[in-house]
Order: sequence, then C-alpha cells, then structure tokens
Amino acid sequence: MQRVRIVGTGSYVPQEVITNADLERLVDTSDEWIRSRTGVVERRRAAKDQATSDLALDAARAALAMAGRAVNDLDMIVVATITPDTYCPSAACWLQSKLGMTHGVAFDVNAACAGFIFGLSVCEQFIKTGSARTILFVASEVMTRTVNWSDRESCILWGDGAGAVILTADGEEDGSPLKHGILATNIYTDGTHGEKLQLPGGGSRTTPISHESVSADLHTLRMEGPDSFKIAVRTWSTACLETLEATGLSVADLRWHIPHQANLRMIEAVAKRMKLQMSKVYLTIHKYGNISSATVPITLDEVVRTGQVAPGDLLMLSAFGGGLAWGASLVRW
Ligand code: UT7
Repeated sequence: MQRVRIVGTGSYVPQEVITNADLERLVDTSDEWIRSRTGVVERRRAAKDQATSDLALDAARAALAMAGRAVNDLDMIVVATITPDTYCPSAACWLQSKLGMTHGVAFDVNAACAGFIFGLSVCEQFIKTGSARTILFVASEVMTRTVNWSDRESCILWGDGAGAVILTADGEEDGSPLKHGILATNIYTDGTHGEKLQLPGGGSRTTPISHESVSADLHTLRMEGPDSFKIAVRTWSTACLETLEATGLSVADLRWHIPHQANLRMIEAVAKRMKLQMSKVYLTIHKYGNISSATVPITLDEVVRTGQVAPGDLLMLSAFGGGLAWGASLVRW
C-alpha cells in the first residue's frame, strides 16, 4: 500500500462581504444574537457570474502552485460539493475543462458539510492501492444560492468559498512510523436522521421544478438546528477520539484541530468532550461562516500559509453535516 501525503493547499473566497448588520436589514435578528449563538461575524458571497467550479479553479491553482505540480501531473480530480454548477456534468468535470485537462478522470462526492473528510477518504483509497498517484481534491460551495433568506435561524450561517489540496503517493508502507502524511481517516453516516439537514427540492423527488415547489421553499436549505446540534456534538467528538485511538495517539499530541466551522458553540462543545483546549482549535467561522464542505480545507490553507504548522505536527481534520454524515482524519504534516 502507498502512503498518502498532502503536498499543497489552496483556497479562494469571493470578494463580497455580508456582515451581520446586512442581515439585520433582512430578517428579525441582531449582530449580538448571531455572534453569541454562532460565532459568525461576516461571510462571503459569490458574484452572480461565479459558480462552484469557478471558485474551485482559483483554489486549485493555488494548491498546484504550492505543490509545484502542473495539470499534467494529475491523474484525477475530485470535488466535494452539494452546490455543483449543474447536476450533469459534475462540478469536477467543469473544473477539469477549466484547467484544460484532457486526461484522467473527474467526479464529485456529496457528503454535505462532511464532504472534505469523505472526499479525502475516497482519494486515499485510490492512492493507497496505486490506482492514482496524484489527485487534485477540492471542496467548493456556493451556499448562499441555497439559502432561504427569510429563515432567520439558518440564513445567518452560510457563506461561499473553496479549498483545495494536492494529494500524492509518498512511497510504500514498510511498517516504520509515518513521518508525513495521512495516518487515519474514519467516516460515518446515519441516514435515519436525513430530514434534520436537507435541501429537499431539485432532485427526482420534486422535479420538474414547479411553481408549487418554489413557493413551498423546497429549493432552499432546511435544518432542525437544535436537534442536529445535539447529535453532532456526540458523534463528531466520538469520531475524533476513535480516529486518535486507531493510531495510538492522544489529544495531547495534537498541534491543531481543524474542525468544520458550523457553529462556534458546537466546536467548543466538541472540544470540551475531547478534553482539548480551545487554543488548539483553529477558527475561521468569524470571517467566513459555514461554507459546508469547504470550511476545513480553507482553514487548513490558512494554517499552512500563515506558517502555523511545522513538519511533523499532528493535525486533526473533522466535520459533521447533512446525511447525517461525519468523520475525522489525522494528518502528520
Ligand atoms: O454544518 C452542518 C452542521 N450544522 C448544524 O448541525 C447546525 C447546528 N445548529 C445550530 O447551529 C444552531 O442550532 C442554530 C444556529 C441553527 C440555532 O441556534 P440555537 O441557539 O440552537 O437557537 P434555537 O433554534 O434554539 O432558538 C433560540 C431562540 C428562539 O427564540 P425563542 O423561541 O427562545 O423565543 C429562536 O426563535 O432564538 C431565536 N432565533 C433567533 N433570534 C435572533 C433563532 N434564530 C435567530 C436569529 N436571530 N437569527
């Protein structure tokens, strides 16, 4: 089996900033409520002419540059998204076209906000078994196009952006401890709670799109916020601890926990259950909000580009979202 290593990261967020004050003008809310209940201060919104693959393209180019790799070096493109440009072709195929890549394969992975951990797991399998050598993996979302702007409980959470990693084979496993690379990734789902976080319209259940489906708000996100909050804290922290346990490492060994930026109180509750101090948890929720699958790689890219991770540091990446789906990955940088 091949070892798998992250050799480059990149990210992109659109220019337009939506502040809590902007949302106060839209719904019955306040900056104080949003900050204290979610941790979000502002978020980004894609321009009208930007779709998911456009955001992904900028993040991909930055990751390729950091990795010193060219498009010709790639065997595969994987995109994690729940907001593809179109349902067919996939966002990954649009991205492949924008990169001018005429070889290899490209496909999407959908695990909602946990998409980055699921996509990482998929990429790992291809590289470990020798089916692919170098993969561009991007998580990209235009969440603001799925938002019900009259639902004050959820419209305050979401933003747009993309984060990318270049994953590559790093030599055969030989039983010696891994110096750099992905140590373990665990993914989990429980479809019986699917209704708690969903975008009901647009699929085969409701198409063709009708006046009725639009007026019933079926094409915007719905969430049973407090319920999914409770389930998330338990399952998410367990996933992190199980992933550590699988490698014989402990919370004390972590340099950073880079969690999905869903809600600051959720992130704090997960850290508390893990007995992890918040000084080891990296946050970007205040400036970007919840960008679904893209929050983890955007945050990872910030940690890397600001020089806050050194070779050999242990990073935990983790996420929870619709499905329900959740997971965690341990990376030796
Ligand atoms: O990324 C995927 C994973 N994400 C999740 O699983 C989401 C998890 N859930 C959450 O982040 C939180 O549950 C929310 C942010 C969605 C909601 O926060 P909450 O603290 O759970 O609020 P709540 O729904 O329990 O509502 C508390 C109160 C209610 O008023 P009453 O009934 O106590 O009078 C709401 O009507 O806060 C009210 N409220 C608001 N007030 C001002 C709800 N939204 C707002 C708002 N501004 N935007």
